[in-house]
Amino acid sequence: MTGFVADVLTLYPEMFPGSLGHSLAGRALAEGVWSLRTTQIRDFALDKHRHVDDTPAGGGPGMVMRADVLARAVDAVCPADDLRPRLVMTPRGRPLSQARVRDLAAGPGVVILCGRFEGVDERVISRRGLEEVSIGDYVLSGGEVAATVVLDAIVRLLPGVMGNDQSGLTESFETGLLEHAQYTKPPVFEGEDIPPVLLSGDHAKVDAWRKRNAEETTASRRPDLWLAHQAAKKT
Ligand code: ADE
Repeated sequence: MTGFVADVLTLYPEMFPGSLGHSLAGRALAEGVWSLRTTQIRDFALDKHRHVDDTPAGGGPGMVMRADVLARAVDAVCPADDLRPRLVMTPRGRPLSQARVRDLAAGPGVVILCGRFEGVDERVISRRGLEEVSIGDYVLSGGEVAATVVLDAIVRLLPGVMGNDQSGLTESFETGLLEHAQYTKPPVFEGEDIPPVLLSGDHAKVDAWRKRNAEETTASRRPDLWLAHQAAKKT
């Protein structure tokens, strides 16, 4: 396999490629810029009923994915000399950032384990060097949608995937600010004009308007990003 190689370990391989089979990511997949393999975790269960989970040690609700089954699946997909980062999608993980996405996109590929149920036995996380990643402070029904989000964010950064590379540089998070507002035709929509400066043809003024709009939007919606942006400017 050439290009960026993604392996997804899941109980629901039929969820893939899903949205990754369409649009930019789908075209890049068809062109071989990246490849996607899915592995059914249940194939690594050894008992008659192919159990992948069991009750949590210490009691409590729900089920936990078994360390032994997951370890066999990880080892089959990703031998010790496979240098690709190994992620496990979980709301307990470090929040995904554009910086992490950029690093992943610069590497050879990624192995993503999709958690389900109450979680994954901690021992397989530590013993197989899995990096716990969250896509945000909300709980999904499983890691598959989260894995799709991670792969979508990576694939659009792979060389040759985005037509207009400049648009990747100015958009939200690449500059530490949210993106400025955008307008297009018609010039008047339900009585509301496009800000006249954007139609003035004065590029310096357009740039200044966009910068101020990005700053105001970031400061009001994301005070956390705004503080970090200001702190970075001072150093
Ligand atoms: N699985 C369930 N919720 C998740 C989240 N927010 N991020 C990553 N994986 C998850």
